[in-house]
Amino acid sequence: MLDSHTKANNTPLRIAVLVSGSGSNLQVLINAMQAGALPIEIVGVISNREDAYSITRANDADIPVAVLSHVASGKRMGIKTFETHASAQLSAWQPDLIVLAGFMRVLSSSFIDNAPAPMINLHPSLLPAYKGLDTHQRIIQAGERHHGCSIHVVTAELDAGAVLTQALLEVHQKDTADSLQTRVQQLEHQLLPWTILLLAKGVLSLNNEQLSNQQHTHMPMLPLRLYVNH
Ligand code: GRF
Repeated sequence: MLDSHTKANNTPLRIAVLVSGSGSNLQVLINAMQAGALPIEIVGVISNREDAYSITRANDADIPVAVLSHVASGKRMGIKTFETHASAQLSAWQPDLIVLAGFMRVLSSSFIDNAPAPMINLHPSLLPAYKGLDTHQRIIQAGERHHGCSIHVVTAELDAGAVLTQALLEVHQKDTADSLQTRVQQLEHQLLPWTILLLAKGVLSLNNEQLSNQQHTHMPMLPLRLYVNH
């Protein structure tokens, strides 16, 4: 468990990462782990797409990978089957923390509630604003002046768990959905390792009491903001 881990902080935090795509955020964690810059051990990666470049990144780093493709050999794997396999795999890896980094399937409440470790998700907006998909396009259409990314606790309601950390940027007049995606992703690459470091060091806690009752604890008010010069 994460809380007991932070008390005995000599051992690396065991992390499982769920991915669906390119895995640039996974790569940042791999690099930080290999450089000794983050006290983590990535114990396994689960991909729900067999064509995800994340798989190559994990293989290159000798990290165990489970590919639970949602369309294997033309047959669609239902979410229940995916979750049964993913649960078994996660339990075998015994992570302290599960990180959804560009993972694009919606998970059921029973999977989330019974997961063997707390789960956090990286979302490309300043939550609670712009939950869901196509956030960059919607930001441009709405003429927003600020945008960014958030890391939140995964709960049954989509993108609605306690927001732990955020990084933000100013939207430029010349920005497009594509340029925002690139700029937000650069923020994500700093926000994710920073957040995991805070969790590993116990500066941030996923203890329920601390998440819901922040003003009565020693914990800082959430979300914590990472300021990035860009
Ligand atoms: C990230 O930009 C994240 O915000 C979104 O999916 C993207 C994943 O990127 N949910 P990568 O696979 O880590 O490169």
